[in-house]
Formats: sequence, structure tokens, C-alpha cells
Amino acid sequence: MGLSYAYIHRYETFGKKEEITDLLVRVEHEFTPKLSVWTWEKGNTIREKMAHYFKPDSSMLLAIDDETNHIAGLFHLREDDAKGEMIHYSPNLKIETIIVAPPYRDRGVATSMYKEVHRMNKTYFKKPFIVSATWEANDKQHHLYKKNGYELAFVSTYPQDDRLKRYYYVKKHEFVR
Ligand SMILES: CC(C)(COP(=O)(O)OP(=O)(O)OC[C@H]1O[C@@H](n2cnc3c(N)ncnc32)[C@H](O)[C@@H]1OP(=O)(O)O)[C@@H](O)C(=O)NCCC(=O)NCCS
Repeated sequence: MGLSYAYIHRYETFGKKEEITDLLVRVEHEFTPKLSVWTWEKGNTIREKMAHYFKPDSSMLLAIDDETNHIAGLFHLREDDAKGEMIHYSPNLKIETIIVAPPYRDRGVATSMYKEVHRMNKTYFKKPFIVSATWEANDKQHHLYKKNGYELAFVSTYPQDDRLKRYYYVKKHEFVR
């Protein structure tokens, strides 16, 4: 399977907004907590609630299947989140929502997207830290962080439910000046 990457900087272009919304809605139930609970600007339907993911303070990396032109994977990218413990890992590139479309799972799509983000950081963002987090029970995601050179940095709780633990992983990038 051939993949191409598309980087949408702070939603300057909205070309695939409908397809991205379809994907967010399709995988919403897999997230703990659910994707729609992150929306502070509530809509009436799940689709309306997903508008939260198109705010101009974050960007998006898409992996596109060369044969079908469908979205195989999606990473939200945010620069310089320095809230709370993150102050110790800043400036940073934060990988937020991470989704591989169900038909593309377990074929190395997420692994290839981490490589692409690391390449982009070296050439474009140039942040000393890449940060990302997942919930406690997401074993696949814990495996992927470790496999891709991330180390567990700290554990916090989710604002919606302080019984839910959020594991933050960090990868250090060093640059020769
Ligand atoms: C998590 C997710 C992004 C992974 O994407 P993917 O493209 O399937 O991942 P890859 O194919 O690159 O890699 C999967 C790896 O996990 C391993 N794996 C699969 N199931 C696993 C499990 N239950 N526990 C631990 N590792 C597991 C695979 O063996 C593989 O590792 P390997 O290459 O060392 O053999 C995808 O499953 C997904 O979108 N899940 C739902 C949403 C989600 O959980 N997102 C992350 C939120 S932080």
C-alpha cells in the first residue's frame, strides 16, 4: 500500500473536512473519554460537536491511500502546549488525536506516520520535545510510543473524570545549531 502525506497548517484549507468528520464520528466510541466530550462549543449532533477538531490552533497530518485517495490515518498536531507539567517539555510539538481508519489498522500506518512527524520536526517545526498522551488501558498505543522512541514522562488525570489516568510520553529531538 502506497501512502502520501498531507499537512494542513492550522486549517488553512478545508478540502477533506467532510471525510475527516466521517472518520471522527466512526471511531468516536473507541476513545476513552469519547472524542465528543472534548467539545466546549457543544452542537446538537455528533457531527456538529466534531467542529471542535477544526479549530485554527491546531494542524493536521493526513496519510492518504495512493490508490483510493481515502484517508488512512490522521494526527492532530499542536505547537507549544505549556500547560501544567508540559512546561517542563516545552517548546514542543504535541500529537493530539491519533486515528488510523479501521480498514487500515495493523498494517504499519501509525508507525509510518510517527516517522513522518519526526521527519517534519527535524526539518520544519524544530521543537526539542515531541509530546503525546493516551489513556491507561490503550496497550497498543503504549507499545507504539515505546517502539518509536518515546519515554513515559508523567501521568495525569483527565479533566472530565479524575479516575481516568492519562499517560504522557515524550521524545527528545536534539538539533545541531
Ligand atoms: C492505535 C492506532 C492508532 C494504531 O494504528 P495502526 O496503524 O494499527 O498501528 P501499526 O500498524 O503502525 O502498529 C501496531 C503495533 O501495535 C501492536 N499491537 C497490536 N495490538 C496490540 C495490543 N493489544 N497491545 C500491544 N500492542 C499491540 C502491533 O503488533 C504493532 O506493533 P509491531 O509493529 O511492533 O508488531 C489505531 O489502532 C487506532 O486508530 N485505534 C483507535 C484510536 C486510538 O486508540 N488512537 C490512539 C489514541 S492516543
